[in-house]
Amino acid sequence: MDNSLKIFNDLAKKILRDEEQNPVSEFVSSGDLFDKLDLSLSDHPIDEDQFKEVLEDLVLKTPKTATNAFFNQLFGGRNDKAVLGELLAVMLNNSMYTYKAAGPQIGVEKIVINEVCKIVGWSKNGGGTFATGGSLTNFMAMLMARDSASQDIQYKGMSNQNLTVYTSIESHYSTPKNASFSGIGRDNVRKISTDQFGRIDANELRLKIEEDIASGKKPALVNLTAGTTVLGAFDPIEDIAAICKEYNVWLHIDGAYCGSVIFSTKYKHLLKGLEQVDSFSFNAHKMIGTPLTCSLIVVKNNEMLYDSFTEEASYLYQTDHDEFNLGKTSLQCGRRNDALKFWTLWKSVGTKGLEKIVDKQFEFADIARDYIANNPDYTSYGIEDSISVCFNYKGIPAQQLCTELYKESKLLVGYGTFRENEFVRFVTINAQNNPEDIINFFKTLENFVETHMAEISVEGVQ
Ligand SMILES: Cc1ncc(COP(=O)(O)O)c(C=O)c1O
Repeated sequence: MDNSLKIFNDLAKKILRDEEQNPVSEFVSSGDLFDKLDLSLSDHPIDEDQFKEVLEDLVLKTPKTATNAFFNQLFGGRNDKAVLGELLAVMLNNSMYTYKAAGPQIGVEKIVINEVCKIVGWSKNGGGTFATGGSLTNFMAMLMARDSASQDIQYKGMSNQNLTVYTSIESHYSTPKNASFSGIGRDNVRKISTDQFGRIDANELRLKIEEDIASGKKPALVNLTAGTTVLGAFDPIEDIAAICKEYNVWLHIDGAYCGSVIFSTKYKHLLKGLEQVDSFSFNAHKMIGTPLTCSLIVVKNNEMLYDSFTEEASYLYQTDHDEFNLGKTSLQCGRRNDALKFWTLWKSVGTKGLEKIVDKQFEFADIARDYIANNPDYTSYGIEDSISVCFNYKGIPAQQLCTELYKESKLLVGYGTFRENEFVRFVTINAQNNPEDIINFFKTLENFVETHMAEISVEGVQ
C-alpha cells in the first residue's frame, strides 16, 4: 500500500502543478484516444516504472475540472477538506447499509441529514438518505410519490393505475427516464410551459391536473426545480404547494443544481415555502463543491422512505436498530459513504462557510452579468438570481464557439437553449475562483475570437 500511496501523492502533486501551468488539458479527440494513450490491458503485469508513466500520461491528458478554465457543467473547483473526506472514505471502504459495517460513519450521515432537515424545517419527523446522483434522488422521490398514490403497486405491479407526473419543459431529463423506470411511463409525464424567466406556469399546471382527473387519471407527483439546468431558474414553490395540497399530489423539489441556497441567508428566499413540500434533493457536488457524487434527498415524513425502500434481509441486518441500519431507507444495498466528504467540509468551515461558498457564486454571476451589460458585443439571454450566465458574443453561434474553444484547449464552457435562442452558458459554480478569473474568462474568449476570427464563421459581425 505504501508504494501506491506514494504514487498517488506524486501524481496528485503533478496534477496540481500542471493545473496551474495548463488549466486546460491537451485536446484528445475520441477518434485518437486509443492511439494517443496506452489504455490496453494484457495478461501480464506491467513493469512498475512503465505503470507510473502510463498513469501520469492518463491523468495529465484528462479534462481538468477543478481549474479556473472549466465552466462546462454544473460542478467545478476542489474543496480540499471535502477531498480529504472522500479519500478517507475510499481508504475506509465502509458500506453504509448497516451499523455493523460502517459504525461511526453512520453517525456522520445521520448528522448531515438531520442538519439539512432542520434547515428545511423538518426537525420532528424528517429523514433522508444519499444516492449516487440527482437523477437517482429524483427517482426515489418519484417512487415515494407513486407508492403514496397507490400502495398496491409495490406488491401487485402496475395495472392501469393511470398515474401522471408534472414537471416543466425546462426540468432535467431524469423525470421522463424515471417515469419509465418506475412503471408510470414516459407518456404520462406532462411537460408544463414556463414563463419568460424559465419558471413553471402554475395556471397551466392546475389546468393539466384538473383535465387529467376529469379523464380518470391520478396525478401522483409534481416535480419542481430549484435551479433549472440551463437558465438556473427557481420554480415558485409556495403557489404550487397550495395546488398539490388541494389535489393531494406529492411535491418534490429537484434542487440538484441550486438547492444548496438553503445555506444562504441572502438567497434562501428563492426556496420560499420549502418546508411545505414532501421531498427535496440537492447535489452537494454542485454548488457546495464536494467531489462527485454527493446527492441527498430529505423527506418531510421519514416513514415514506421506509414504506418505499425497506426490505427485510436476515443475512444483512444482524445487529442494532433500523435507525442505525441505513440500508433500510436506501435505494441501494452496498453503498459508498458519500456523506463523509460533505461532513469533513461542513465540520471544517461551519454552516457559515457553506453560506460563503454559495454566496460567492452569485457574486461572480453578478460580475459576469455586469460585464456583459456594459459591453455591446454581448447579448444577454440569462435571468437575475442565477449562477448560469447566458450570452452570445458578436452573434457567433454558441455551439461553434464552445466547440472551437474546447478543441483549441482554451476554455471548457457549454451552450444551452431557451425558447428559440441558443447561447453560451457560463456557470460560475467554482467558488475557489476569484473575480479576476471571471473577467479573464471573457478576455480569453474575446482574444480567441480575435485570433481565430477567420476560422469561425461569424454571423452578424460588423
Ligand atoms: C436540475 C437537475 N436535476 C438533476 C440533475 C441530475 O443530477 P446528477 O447528474 O447528479 O444525476 C441535474 C444535473 O445537472 C440537474 O441540473
